[in-house]
Formats: sequence, structure tokens, C-alpha cells
Amino acid sequence: MTTGAELVSALAGIVGGRYVLTAGADVATYVTDWKRSSTGTPACVVRPASTAEVADVIKACRKHGAAVVPQGGNTGLAAGAIPDTTGTEVVLSLNRMQAIRSLDPIGMTVEVEAGAILQTVREEAAAAGRMLPIAIAAEGSATIGGVIATNAGGLNVLRYGMTRDLTLGLELVLADGTVASRLRHLRKDNAGYDWKQWFIGSEGTLGIVTAAVMRLVPVPRHTATALLSVSDLDAAIALFELAQQEIGEALSAFELISEQSVELVERHFPIKSPIETGKWSILIEASSSLSGLRDATEAVLAAGFEKGWVVDGVVAESEAQVRQLWALRENVTEAEAKHGSSLKHDISVPLVRMSAFLTDASAAVSAVAPSTGLNLFGHLGDGNLHYNVLTEAGHDAVAINRAVHDAVDRHGGSISAEHGIGRYRVDEWMRIAPEADRHLAETIKTALDPNGLLNPGKVLPAGRHHRGSI
Ligand code: FAD
Ligand code: MLT
Ligand code: ZN
Repeated sequence: MTTGAELVSALAGIVGGRYVLTAGADVATYVTDWKRSSTGTPACVVRPASTAEVADVIKACRKHGAAVVPQGGNTGLAAGAIPDTTGTEVVLSLNRMQAIRSLDPIGMTVEVEAGAILQTVREEAAAAGRMLPIAIAAEGSATIGGVIATNAGGLNVLRYGMTRDLTLGLELVLADGTVASRLRHLRKDNAGYDWKQWFIGSEGTLGIVTAAVMRLVPVPRHTATALLSVSDLDAAIALFELAQQEIGEALSAFELISEQSVELVERHFPIKSPIETGKWSILIEASSSLSGLRDATEAVLAAGFEKGWVVDGVVAESEAQVRQLWALRENVTEAEAKHGSSLKHDISVPLVRMSAFLTDASAAVSAVAPSTGLNLFGHLGDGNLHYNVLTEAGHDAVAINRAVHDAVDRHGGSISAEHGIGRYRVDEWMRIAPEADRHLAETIKTALDPNGLLNPGKVLPAGRHHRGSI
């Protein structure tokens, strides 16, 4: 019996033989990422049904010196949930752990298992008049564990914050198989270190999330949604300042869509913009339990027209039109994938630097890839732009990535605003991160996963930690 076969047999003894997958066809959906940029070859895919089984799986993998790659819905955009090509890593899928354990509409919390689908949790909350305000186009497949592991952002960060801001408690399995549980339904809990923060956004490299307590908010009773085109990016930013003043904390989305993004969506989907979109368009949404949002949104549009910032615009008149406006924004990623290959850059810079960054980055990219197309869109209100370069044969991906990221660095930004480092950005992160950042990351990794068992090669380069049976 080979070591691999012994491990498969040990895992089958924990979860049951039918939940350990080894055949090519069975593992196919677990080994390639959503963007199809990375494909691996695992020793097997294991699908535990409970936290206790996850703990036993980790202990068995540790005993056999096998690395573990946690996976939720496999919608991540940084190739973080994909095994390497050695045939030795175990993909640990949380997709059998989907229970919604409890929902408290008064305390406004929900306790769920890590494999629960985001959309299902949102629907369950909505049925109780509550909202889990994590809004991403991948909600039909993304899981709570994956959203926490990537500290996902999305369309409503402006109002409700990142996933980190909505996570009240975590249950984890650590690298030695210990279960650490702090599933408290509390807004205030200063007892000791708030260790859950180390794991949120750690992309499966420090522990396996098995369950979480998430914060809910009341479902907003009123919303106003508008699409408008602006004269230039500076006008968009001036309009954001105005919208913050007029709409205040009810401003829940301020999204940027470039003309290339509109063109891609209109080409690949039966969707048409109701306005003349021009070089840049903005999707604004206001939402609240209180009324008056439509008036406030129309006031922003009127003032924007008067100042010459807004060129064309519409405030949605019906639920169908709200969906039409959002479809234009939410299908950009799929349209880009249908178009062909691209290099994704998920960057953030201080808003006041956004225009200068764009000029700088465009010049830098043109210098290394003169005829390239861009697909620019994102969460402008958060200073987060998806600066995606549409690539063709012969393009030098390394040079393009460096050109964009060096521009980000020059403007005090981040090379990953919301998607994470995964495997996709490890080299760039190691190139750009300050020495002290890298040292701290290594220190935390060594403390929590001294044998480099958990998701090696993601966030930090592989091979720095000794792996072996203990
Ligand atoms: P996976 O892809 O399975 O895994 C992602 C990472 O988390 C991997 O490193 C994996 O190892 C780790 N992981 C997964 N589950 C666990 C667990 N239980 N314990 C420990 N580690 C785990 N992201 C945004 O931030 N904002 C957006 O607006 C957004 N929009 C998107 C739109 C589309 C169309 C697509 C395809 C993706 C989008 N994403 C967005 C990216 C993606 O949906 C998120 O990163 C999401 O949080 C990933 O969840 P998942 O369950 O699919 O995780
Ligand atoms: C989005 O904002 O739509 C997502 O982050 C997906 C992407 O960047 O493609
Ligand atoms: Zn995004």
C-alpha cells in the first residue's frame, strides 16, 4: 500500500468511502478555479459532514504529512482553493456542512456552518426581515467559510463594511486538529485577544473555518437606484462627495462602470443600458428603513447636471428597472470571462489619488503592452478598482502585473483590495510588501501552522515550513 492509498483509506474511515473522491471525473469541479487560470492534481477530495470529522481529517493529514487545501464554493478569484500539481495535497471541501444553526432576529445574528451558500443564508435572513449585507455576484455558489476566509467585500461595503465587520464569532479547526470555538452572539466581547481577526482573510492558511456567527441588519424598507454617466473621473469623485453629503449613511453603493465594461456586458448578455453611458458610468444605491431616498437621490442627480458633472442619468422607476441597472454592473465579470483571457488587478488607492493613479497606470501598461484593452470597473466609493487588462497572445503577464502594481504602490494603494493574495498574487505580494509585513506574516504562520500543512503556497510562498509526519 502506498502512503497516498493509506491516507485515502484513513480518510474514508473518518468520513465514509463515498465522501473521499479520487477519480478524475469526480474531482474535476474541485481542481480548476472559476477563472480557469489554475488546475491542480490532488491526492483526493475529502468531504466531511461535521466539525468533529474536519478535526479528524486534519489529524490524519498531519499524521501522513499531507497538506490540506480548504475549499468552499470555488468562486475565489485568486486561485486560493486549488491544489498544486504534485498529487499529494488533500482538498477539504466544506460543501456537506451547510446547516443554518440558528437565527436571532432581535439580536440580529445568524449562526451557520461554513459550507452554507451565501445566497441561502441571505434568503433565510430575508424571510425573518433581516439582511446579511454581503452582496457579491457569486452569492449563488460562494460559501460563508469562503467569504470569511477571503474577507470578501462586494457591492455594499460602503454602508456595511467588509466581511470582517460582519463576523461576530468563529469556530475553527487548527493545524493540529484542535477545535477552537468562540461562537458568541455578542456585539461586545473584549475578553482576551480577538483571535478571530487573524483567521478572517487568511485564505485557509491558518485554520479551517467550520462555523460562524454573522451580524444581520434590518432589511431596508426603501431603496433608490440610479445609473448616470459622468463627464470624467474627477466628476465621478466630486459626485461621490456630494452623494455622501445628501444621502449620508443611507448611501449603500457607489459603483463605477467604464464604457468597455458596458460594451462587454451588452455584447455577451441580452442587457442594454437605458442611458447614454459614455466613458464612465456610476451606479448609485441608497437604502434605509426611513423614506425620502428618492428625493435625496434626485437632488444629487439635479445638482450633478447643474455642475456639468452628470451627462445623462435615470432613477429606477420599478423593481424590474432596478434589476436591469444592477445587471449591467453584476455581469461585468462573467462578460469579461466570456470575452477571453485577462489579467485581474484588484487594487485600492485613496480616492483623492484615483485619477492620478489611472493616468499613471495606463501609461505604464501601454509601455509594456501597447495595444492592450482594459476592463475597468469596481467599487469607486471604497477606492477599489478592478483594473483588468484584456490580454492577447504574446503579452508579457509579469511585466503587465508589475506595471499596474508599481503604479498602485506609488499612489499608496493595495494590490489586493478584496480578492486576496491566493496563489495568483504571491510573487507580487512578496515583491511589494514591506519587510516588516512579510516578517509578521511569517511569524503568525509559523505560530499557527509550524509544519506548513494548511494551504501551502497561498498568501506566502510554499516550502518555507517543514512538512512531515509529527
Ligand atoms: P473558495 O473559492 O472556495 O475559497 C477561497 C479561499 O478561501 C481559498 O483560499 C480557500 O482555501 C479558502 N477557504 C474556503 N473555505 C474555507 C474554509 N471553510 N476555511 C478556511 N479557508 C477556506 N469577491 C469580493 O470580495 N467582492 C466581489 O464583489 C466579488 N464578486 C465576485 C463575482 C464573481 C462572478 C465571482 C466568480 C467571484 C467574486 N468574488 C468577489 C470572489 C469570491 O466570490 C469571493 O472571494 C468568495 O468569498 C469566495 O467564496 P468561496 O466559498 O467560493 O471560496
Ligand atoms: C466585482 O466587483 O464584480 C468582483 O469583485 C468580481 C471581479 O473583480 O471580477
Ligand atoms: Zn469587486
